[in-house]
Amino acid sequence: MNRATIIENIYRDIKNSENKGNLANYIPELGKVDVAAFGVHYLETKGNSYGVGDCKQPFSIQSIVKVLSLTMAYRLLGGELWQRVGVESQGTAFNSLIQIEQSNGIPRNPFVNGGAIVICDILLSHLDSPKADFLAFIHLLSGDKTVNYDVAVVASEKSVGYRNKAIANLLKSFGNLTNEPDEVLDFYFHICSLSMSCETLAKTFLFLANDGIFPESQQQILSRSQTKRLNAVMQSCGFYDESGDFTFRVGLPGKSGVGGGIIALYPGEYTLAVWSPKLNDKGNSYRGIQFLESFTTQAGTSIF
Ligand code: DON
Repeated sequence: MNRATIIENIYRDIKNSENKGNLANYIPELGKVDVAAFGVHYLETKGNSYGVGDCKQPFSIQSIVKVLSLTMAYRLLGGELWQRVGVESQGTAFNSLIQIEQSNGIPRNPFVNGGAIVICDILLSHLDSPKADFLAFIHLLSGDKTVNYDVAVVASEKSVGYRNKAIANLLKSFGNLTNEPDEVLDFYFHICSLSMSCETLAKTFLFLANDGIFPESQQQILSRSQTKRLNAVMQSCGFYDESGDFTFRVGLPGKSGVGGGIIALYPGEYTLAVWSPKLNDKGNSYRGIQFLESFTTQAGTSIF
C-alpha cells in the first residue's frame, strides 16, 4: 500500500473513534480551539507530499518552536551552548521547577520550559532585533511570510504565566540568565505563540531530515553533526516525561506542543506533521500520537 493510502486510512479510522483528552486551557486562548480539528501533512525530502484534513489551518505551535530556537542558538554558539543546558531526559512535567533547583540552575534539556527559556536568553544576547530576526529565520525555513506571532495567545499566556515566571526567576538566581527575566519571558511567550499549519510545519522542519540542508535553496542550516545531535535530543527529550513512551510506540525523533501539534521526522526520508488539539495528561496530542504510532507501524518506517 502506498503511503498516501496508509495516511488516509489511518486518518479516517481515528476521526471515527473517540477523541480523548483535554484542551490546553491553562492558557485561556488555547481553550477556544475547535476540539474536532485534525490535520496531517507528510513531506518527503525528494519532494513528494500528501496532506489530509485540516492540514492547511494554522494553529499555535507552542513548544514545537523550541527546536527552531535551539537551531538558531546552535548556529550562533555551537557546542558552547551545552554549558548552559543539558541533553538528558527529565522525567518530570515540562514546567516542573524541582530539577532546576537540584542541578544549580542548569536545565536538564532545551525542550523543557527552563531549557527553552535559557535558549531565549542566549538569542536575546546575540540578536539585534530578536523578535524580527527570529521571525525572519522562520520565514526562511518555511518559505511562508504569512507566519506570525499570535498576539492574543501571547497576552493570554502572559496573564497566567506564573510558573514560567518562577522558572525564569530561579534560573536568574543561579546566574543562568543574562537578561532580565521579564524580557526573556516576553520573547519566550512570543516564539511559543507562532501560528503555522501542518503543511508549513512539515516544510520548516525538512532541513532536519536532510542532513541540515534546506532542500529548496541547498542552504546549510546546521552542520551534519549538529543535525544528528539535534535529532538525538528530539528523540530523547521531545515529549517530556512521555519521551520513552513515544520512542517505544512511534520510533521517530519528534517534538510536541500544547497547541496539539506534533512534528516527527525520519532522517534522510521525510517529515510528518500532525495536529489535533486535545492533549493527554502529559501535554501531548492524543490523536497525534495515535496517528504516528499507526503510521510508523503500518508503513514500517520506525528508525529502529
Ligand atoms: O510555556 C508553556 O507552558 C507553553 N508556552 C509551552 C508548553 C508546551 O507546549 C509544552 N508542550 N507539550
